[in-house]
Amino acid sequence: MIHIDYTNMLTPTVVGGVPLADWQSADALFGSAHREFEQRRNAGELGFLALPGDAALHAQSTEFATRTRGKFDDIVVLGIGGSALGPIALRTALRKPYWNMLSAGDRDMKPRMHVLDNLDPVTITALLNQVTLERTLFVVTSKSGGTAETMAQYLVVRETLESHKLAVRDHIVFVTDPSKGALRPVANAEKIPALDIPANVGGRFSVLCPVGILPAALIGIDTAGLLAGAGEMAQKCLSPQLRENPAAVFATLQYLADVKAGKRIHVMMPYSDALRDCASWFVQLWAESLGKIRPDKVSVGPTPLASLGATDQHSQVQLFMEGTADKTITLISVPRKKGDVQIPKLHQDIPELAYLGGHALGEVLDVERRATAGALARRGRPNMTIELDAVDAWHMGALFMLLQAATIYAGAMYGVNPLDQPGVELGKNFTYAIMGRPGSDAAKAEWDQLPKPDPKYRV
Ligand code: PA5
Repeated sequence: MIHIDYTNMLTPTVVGGVPLADWQSADALFGSAHREFEQRRNAGELGFLALPGDAALHAQSTEFATRTRGKFDDIVVLGIGGSALGPIALRTALRKPYWNMLSAGDRDMKPRMHVLDNLDPVTITALLNQVTLERTLFVVTSKSGGTAETMAQYLVVRETLESHKLAVRDHIVFVTDPSKGALRPVANAEKIPALDIPANVGGRFSVLCPVGILPAALIGIDTAGLLAGAGEMAQKCLSPQLRENPAAVFATLQYLADVKAGKRIHVMMPYSDALRDCASWFVQLWAESLGKIRPDKVSVGPTPLASLGATDQHSQVQLFMEGTADKTITLISVPRKKGDVQIPKLHQDIPELAYLGGHALGEVLDVERRATAGALARRGRPNMTIELDAVDAWHMGALFMLLQAATIYAGAMYGVNPLDQPGVELGKNFTYAIMGRPGSDAAKAEWDQLPKPDPKYRV
């Protein structure tokens, strides 16, 4: 199960938190966000909600994984943004930890999974030199089928495969829109396998479709469990009752903290290495969905930040405690019932070491999480805790769904469309213009008008 403890978000518990009166009267705010959510859902815009129930789409991934089992030692995902962060978060959360695989022997490590989410030639060259191409599958993931970074990677990989006389269709699978974009016609013409990203599922809402589910299935993650958790959570997140709907509680409190208490920075801080990349996935979801210009031309949107407990207690937490009071901190807790590591009772004569003996590492980590939450509250820094019973497929599916639904509610509260990303278009268009992509004349003209670097302002 997943619960949210938001005691520390509210005044008077936390001075400087969400005013209790605003929370108590938030039903109208949520009611209107819920109506907008329902309108979008009824208009078929919220495709991510239907993914847990789409057995045919799930089967595309599991059948491909079954058909190719044992053929590949390395899976290389080519994708960026929403096409990369979901697979990375899934791998980090649910793949057996590296040390586990080492001790289990080489066989259990395979297939390895890599995600190339950047164009850095050093990384790509190193990876292509490291893998055995004959035993490598490249998963080219792009909803639009036109993103420059991913298309460039695809061209490099394709040429590398061809130069090694390998059949492209045996080593590449596309994950893309069912009909649009550059990849689909290539797939059709050359019989390259291609899995669907439903038309109404955008990049950052795509972790539970083949974007995340195919790589997960290929590396042996329980994809049925993921979808089961997501499905149960989706039901909860449809509730019109604010205090019974975890996505609504998360979105409403973060929104009120921003607009009523000036908490413009929203930190996601799991106390679990497995959830480290889930925090990065959330950062993209919250940033790209909510950072927008409203129809009345006002720029809005919180700034999300990823953090990791306890590591960042020795880095960012000083800022969270005493820096500008403009943050909420969402901690994620995970109980350690199994696999905890006992701390031996050594050096009983040294006080700095003796008190640790007889406890366990996970226990200390959780005590630190509680201590940090309490200290933040004491300093007037609002925080909430998302409590996960375990880091397993079911809970990960549920967590992804909760945060995606919360993003839609928050979009309605901020008065923006959480599903688009017009702000990234100009930079993309300038790139196309500079690269000479056909149809970029207007962008080229605009680019040519921009001030160029002035040597006077260069040291
Ligand atoms: O969330 C989004 O929509 C974006 O971050 C996209 O995922 C990213 O731009 C990649 O797009 P595409 O999958 O079309 O290549």
